[in-house]
Amino acid sequence: MFNALILNQEEKRTIASIEQIDEAQLPEGDVLIDVDYSSLNYKDGLAITGKGKIIRNFPMVPGIDLAGTVVDSKDARYQAGDKVVLTGWGVGENHWGGMAQRASLKADWLVPLPQGLDSKKAMMVGTAGFTAMLCVQALLDAGIKPEDGEILVTGASGGVGSVAVTLLAELGYTVAAVTGRVEQNGPLLEKLGASRIIDRVEFEEPARPLEKQIWAGAVDTVGSKVLAKVLAQMDYNSAVAACGLAGGFDLPTTVMPFILRNVRLQGVDSVMCPTEKRIAAWEKLVELLPDSYFEQACTEVELAEAPKYAEDITNGQVTGRVVIKL
Ligand SMILES: NC(=O)c1ccc[n+]([C@@H]2O[C@H](COP(=O)([O-])OP(=O)(O)OC[C@H]3O[C@@H](n4cnc5c(N)ncnc54)[C@H](OP(=O)(O)O)[C@@H]3O)[C@@H](O)[C@H]2O)c1
Repeated sequence: MFNALILNQEEKRTIASIEQIDEAQLPEGDVLIDVDYSSLNYKDGLAITGKGKIIRNFPMVPGIDLAGTVVDSKDARYQAGDKVVLTGWGVGENHWGGMAQRASLKADWLVPLPQGLDSKKAMMVGTAGFTAMLCVQALLDAGIKPEDGEILVTGASGGVGSVAVTLLAELGYTVAAVTGRVEQNGPLLEKLGASRIIDRVEFEEPARPLEKQIWAGAVDTVGSKVLAKVLAQMDYNSAVAACGLAGGFDLPTTVMPFILRNVRLQGVDSVMCPTEKRIAAWEKLVELLPDSYFEQACTEVELAEAPKYAEDITNGQVTGRVVIKL
């Protein structure tokens, strides 16, 4: 028997409780894993609180990512004792996820834990950090160079945002961080590498179709009017990597930044990302993230505390990454 956070639905409300389950209850999979750590992402927050329609089949174990040790494998690529990491593929949404002490998963979904990380560090990166790397890679692929100018990161004190700030600074970019919590998180963002902090209110005013050109590149985790404002302020021939909707899924913009300033808007998805790209992103994360990242932007909690932190993350009250020890 082992512990799992189980989500059930009663009268359309999502109820989270810790239950003892056994292996026979786990879904089908070809690799059985002892989960060391999971992490809390915005999507987990929406799933656990029921504020977002993330889960359609109950009961469900949430946790869209995990790092752990293989206990048993029917797939030749993995043997007992191997360390692995998983993000995405619908795990924690439609297949029981990382917030349990054991998980049964498809071998195709796994990535060997990269050298230089342990399970805890891998989850300090987690889906959010992995997505931040994909966003930064999108700017690199668009040819944006440090000498082109400042890069803007929105939702900067969140999981994706804080890693994006760190990675961009490590790559030599000048980073401006937009946050709704300047006083609380400004010093941390500066430590992570932001050279200036901008209050989110400046990005919540309705955007004119085109505004003064300021940014050579941007990573947006917020969407809605904040992304619209960012687009209006992009330099000629710049690029925006958009991965999130923490501020809403609408986008009240015009075509002007695209047709008059050659701005590129690159969507970023981490869930269905192909394995080769995943392995490359994890390797680059290991290469770029400084030791200081692992010291300053993380909170470790027990499984029982996950529902409280889930509520907090949906209210924009979490700073950096939260990891869950299984
Ligand atoms: N496409 C993908 O594959 C993928 C993968 C991972 C995450 N995501 C998405 O990326 C976003 C960020 O994820 P995360 O895990 O980093 O979440 P998070 O830790 O909650 O960070 C989101 C940040 O956005 C800001 N924010 C919160 N509410 C806001 C609002 N109403 N208006 C404007 N800004 C707001 C806050 O930063 P400040 O306090 O600093 O302003 C918050 O810390 C989410 O929408 C998530 O679903 C997408």
